[in-house]
Amino acid sequence: MDFSIRTATLEDCKDIARMILELAEYEKVLDQVKVTQKDLEQDGFIKNPFFHGIVAEVPEEHRTIEGHIKVGYALYFYSYSSWKGRAVYMEDLYVMPDFRGMGIGKALMSKVAQLGLAAGCSQLNFTVLDWNKPSLDFYLSQGCTDITASIGYHCLRCEGDKLEQLAKGSA
Ligand SMILES: CC(C)(COP(=O)(O)OP(=O)(O)OC[C@H]1O[C@@H](n2cnc3c(N)ncnc32)[C@H](O)[C@@H]1OP(=O)(O)O)[C@@H](O)C(=O)NCCC(=O)NCCS
Repeated sequence: MDFSIRTATLEDCKDIARMILELAEYEKVLDQVKVTQKDLEQDGFIKNPFFHGIVAEVPEEHRTIEGHIKVGYALYFYSYSSWKGRAVYMEDLYVMPDFRGMGIGKALMSKVAQLGLAAGCSQLNFTVLDWNKPSLDFYLSQGCTDITASIGYHCLRCEGDKLEQLAKGSA
């Protein structure tokens, strides 16, 4: 099936917000999603955007029953490794179920890699849930390595009241 990968625009935020929910449902974390279409419009399309996006689009004749032609996306942003310098972090990678196995996920991830290299990055980082074996296998098939065990990383977070307390120095 033909498809194209292009930079996300403000007009794509509605579909990206929809697919963020679809991905969260797949990952069984739907209750965690607070980001709205409006947040995406505000945070991704300002002078110093907090994220960048790309979308995968199929021709009109392959639109879904619901009428969607935007069938996949990736969100990424730039970060910095004190070991290796410039890095790109892929926050999300998603392809709608009916369009999987056609090379779209690979093309989206390849595009993030291209953009990262063009920006001088030497690493592409991301996380995957421990039970998400199909996606872990997909990533391994793309030349990625699981550094959880080899480096011994734990993912940590501080949010909500705890973040407020931390900021006030009262944690
Ligand atoms: C993971 C995901 C993005 C992959 O996208 P996709 O479009 O289905 O994958 P592709 O068709 O581009 O696959 C490309 C390559 O990966 C391989 N691949 C795909 N799934 C694989 C799997 N489960 N195990 C091993 N290899 C796999 C394919 O064989 C193909 O290899 P080839 O090019 O050598 O033939 C997609 O399945 C998805 O959205 N999954 C649900 C959401 C998700 O888990 N996202 C990641 C969150 S961290």
